[in-house]
Amino acid sequence: MSGELSPIDKAKYVAAKTAADLVEDGMRVGLGTGSTAAWLVRCLGEMVREDGLKIRGVPTSTRTAELAREVGIEVISLDEARWLDLTIDGADEFDAELNLIKGGGGALLQEKIVATASDQMAVIADAAKEVSALGHFPLPVEVVPFGWQTTQTLIEELLISMDVMGRKSSLRMTGQRPFITDEGNYIIDLHLGRIGDPRQMALVLNQMPGVVENGLFIDICDKVIIGYGDGRCEMR
Ligand code: 5RP
Repeated sequence: MSGELSPIDKAKYVAAKTAADLVEDGMRVGLGTGSTAAWLVRCLGEMVREDGLKIRGVPTSTRTAELAREVGIEVISLDEARWLDLTIDGADEFDAELNLIKGGGGALLQEKIVATASDQMAVIADAAKEVSALGHFPLPVEVVPFGWQTTQTLIEELLISMDVMGRKSSLRMTGQRPFITDEGNYIIDLHLGRIGDPRQMALVLNQMPGVVENGLFIDICDKVIIGYGDGRCEMR
């Protein structure tokens, strides 16, 4: 499966392959979203088809659900599963405390619900995702479409009082239209540069009317599996 891969894809693949080995027969597994998580889903599909691995997967997006079905994984909803043994997902950034920024693919809401409903969350990432302070990657905030411009203004005003470098924000677009999440919401990306206190930022953002969820995952991730372009892999 890892044939002629570019170094970045090889890094994502080895992280995904290593994480797939954490999955055991009978597990209910949260399936993340994004290019790294897609490698995981393909690896698990291969294990289901070729080794007879029996798992049920709860996808975190319609994209992942489609891929999971395509590769032969039994897909169930979170309501059917109720609780999960393990969730494996990608991330846009992780720090030394294993706090994350997620949502680059726009699936942060389902991803956070699924990860929170799991005994364990493992993140799979290439080494470039490791940062000393979160915030270089724009922080996604999912907002309801109603009054989104007011919500955006209020968020920008809030940022003035917080320990961040940047205060700009932008509505995520797909071509000329707002990007719409699986839950029918918009995403406002916050260009912060550096988040001094991610825990505080996550709490404060979620108190704002109109905000559904933010992409900061604090104390949710249990381990990170880091892949390198030369095929090495490291677990933290
Ligand atoms: C999607 C996510 C992804 O996990 C994150 O964007 C990383 O994606 P990739 O593995 O493609 O770099 O949070 O909402």
